[in-house]
Amino acid sequence: MNLAGNTVLITGGGSGIGWAMAERFLKAGSDVIICGRRVEKLQEAQQQYPHLRTHACDLADEADRVALFEWVKREVPQLNVLVNNAGIQRRMHLANDEHAQDWSGHRQEIATNFDAPIHLATLFIPLLREQPNAAIINVSSGLAFAPAAFAPVYSATKAALHSFTLSLRHQLAQTGIQVIEIVPPAVNTDLGGAGLHTWGAPLNDFADSIMQRVAAGELEVGYGTSETRRNASRQELDEFFNQMNK
Ligand SMILES: NC(=O)c1ccc[n+]([C@@H]2O[C@H](COP(=O)([O-])OP(=O)(O)OC[C@H]3O[C@@H](n4cnc5c(N)ncnc54)[C@H](OP(=O)(O)O)[C@@H]3O)[C@@H](O)[C@H]2O)c1
Repeated sequence: MNLAGNTVLITGGGSGIGWAMAERFLKAGSDVIICGRRVEKLQEAQQQYPHLRTHACDLADEADRVALFEWVKREVPQLNVLVNNAGIQRRMHLANDEHAQDWSGHRQEIATNFDAPIHLATLFIPLLREQPNAAIINVSSGLAFAPAAFAPVYSATKAALHSFTLSLRHQLAQTGIQVIEIVPPAVNTDLGGAGLHTWGAPLNDFADSIMQRVAAGELEVGYGTSETRRNASRQELDEFFNQMNK
């Protein structure tokens, strides 16, 4: 896809991977809208790029997702790219951890990582199919292919999002809406809490690479270990799982 001349909505665009993608779309000459829960993050971003649009919302909340769609339809009906990037990661041991009993926490993780991309895709498809060069970009994870046992619900939501993305791409093939999947490996962001991913790939290197490949027309884009994993055999994935979860 051409990175210039789009109107792009990036969920969770106020930090991390979403913000890195936002900056690259902006610098390429696209209009960008970012959304997230923390108003101060959205305001900080807008100070750097005054023409950036922002919308505060909690995507775990169904009514907020509908309100976001209605706002976009009213304010930026020319939107042609939806980036489902927002996500949370909760680490827990299912047998030994009090988090495991926290069903509302599980629900929030599932709603943010999986309900929201499905709901937003279905809300936005009618709007997007009116636009030339339309795309839906889903941000999954290398953990979609081999789960990290320390983040069991998170890994399952990402596997589900990968599966959904394949079906979505197939079903939208005749509509003109491209469906792209970004498959990050561990990247140095605040995912799961500050300091948990400092060992991950440098954010700018990762973002430069994936955006170049999206611009070149690739539809499923990994980086480093996630690139290896998305191409791995079942046996290689089992070996990777055993090594990662020692
Ligand atoms: N970093 C990694 O190692 C890694 C690896 C694989 C996949 N990913 C995926 O990459 C995506 C971006 O994560 P990141 O690494 O950039 O972490 P991040 O900096 O924590 O970004 C997550 C973003 O999602 C937003 N968000 C979370 N819950 C939300 C909700 N209920 N409603 C609206 N926005 C919400 C957050 O904003 P607010 O808190 O302000 O709402 C934040 O801007 C996620 O889908 C993540 O699963 C990351």
